[in-house]
Order: sequence, then C-alpha cells, then structure tokens
Amino acid sequence: MRNILIFIFLLVLALALLAFAQPRAVQKPVKDGAGPLAVKLDPRLVAPEYHSPMEWWRTHHMDAVTRGDFAEADCLHCHDATTSCNNCHSYVGVRQIEQKD
Ligand code: HEC
Ligand code: HEC
Repeated sequence: MRNILIFIFLLVLALALLAFAQPRAVQKPVKDGAGPLAVKLDPRLVAPEYHSPMEWWRTHHMDAVTRGDFAEADCLHCHDATTSCNNCHSYVGVRQIEQKD
C-alpha cells in the first residue's frame, strides 16, 4: 500500500515538473509583436510605396540602401533605429543602424 502511494506521489510530481519544463516560445522581431524585440512604428505612419510588397521589402531593403537608392537617414524620418531597425538587426546579427537626431 505504501509503495503505491509513493508511486502515485512521484508520478504526480513528474507530471507537474513536465508541465513547467516546456520550452518557452522564443521571441522574434515581429511587427507589433510582444516582448522587447517587437518592431514598433508610429501607427499613424503609412508605409511608403517602395515597401510594397512588404514581404519583399523585408528581405530586400538592404539592397536598396546599399545600392544607394535611399540613405539610411531617409528611413529614420519614420523609423526609430532602436525600435524598428536594430531590434531586428541584433536578432539576425547585422550591424547597428546609427540613430541621427
Ligand atoms: C514614410 C515612412 C517610412 C519611411 C520613410 C520608411 N519606412 Fe519602413 N516602414 C514604415 C511603416 C509604416 C512600416 C510598417 C508597415 C506595416 O507593417 O504595415 C514599415 C516597415 C518596414 C520594415 C518591415 C518591418 C517588419 O518587421 O515588418 C522594414 C524592414 C523597413 N520598413 C525598412 C525601411 C528602410 C530600410 C527604410 C529606408 C530606405 C524605410 N523603411 C523607410 C514606414 C516608413
Ligand atoms: C525585420 C527585420 C529587419 C528590420 C526591421 C530591419 N532590417 Fe535591415 N536587415 C535585415 C536583415 C536580415 C539584413 C541582412 C541580410 C543579409 O545581408 O544577409 C539587413 C541588412 C540591412 C543593411 C545592410 C547592412 C550591411 O552593412 O550589410 C542595411 C543598410 C539595413 N538592413 C538597413 C535597415 C534600416 C535603415 C532599418 C530600419 C529603418 C532596417 N534595416 C530594419 C533585417 C531587418
């Protein structure tokens, strides 16, 4: 009888530990996401035409900037370097954009 009680106790303990040991979702730099990596922009801003389609722009903005079509300073009229460039850049390991203000 006592062994059974100990067994049940250990089983419940193991299940409780399992429930807490689930890996937490890793935060990513997602627009309007949660956590410190979230990409944030003033909601009153409208994305310029050259951002369209956004999926393309997200992966090709570096080409436009390195090609010299835009200066980084142009981006910072709308973007805050800390909350909508560098949170993502730190995550992917790209150099930081300098905030000029
Ligand atoms: C006129 C304001 C404005 C300017 C200038 C601007 N952006 Fe944006 N950008 C936005 C807005 C608004 C969004 C968010 C659009 C949305 O998600 O609906 C955005 C989104 C982005 C995103 C995607 C973020 C994400 O995770 O979804 C990237 C990357 C980006 N911009 C880079 C740039 C770069 C690089 C420049 C300069 C070449 C630039 N932007 C200039 C307003 C601007
Ligand atoms: C959602 C993620 C994300 C956001 C937000 C973002 N970038 Fe990027 N950026 C990247 C990635 C990924 C790369 C590198 C891709 C590669 O070269 O492999 C990159 C590369 C760049 C590069 C080339 C860097 C170099 O020296 O090689 C520039 C310039 C740049 N981004 C400008 C900006 C600016 C300015 C903003 C804010 C207005 C911005 N990015 C916002 C993801 C992002």
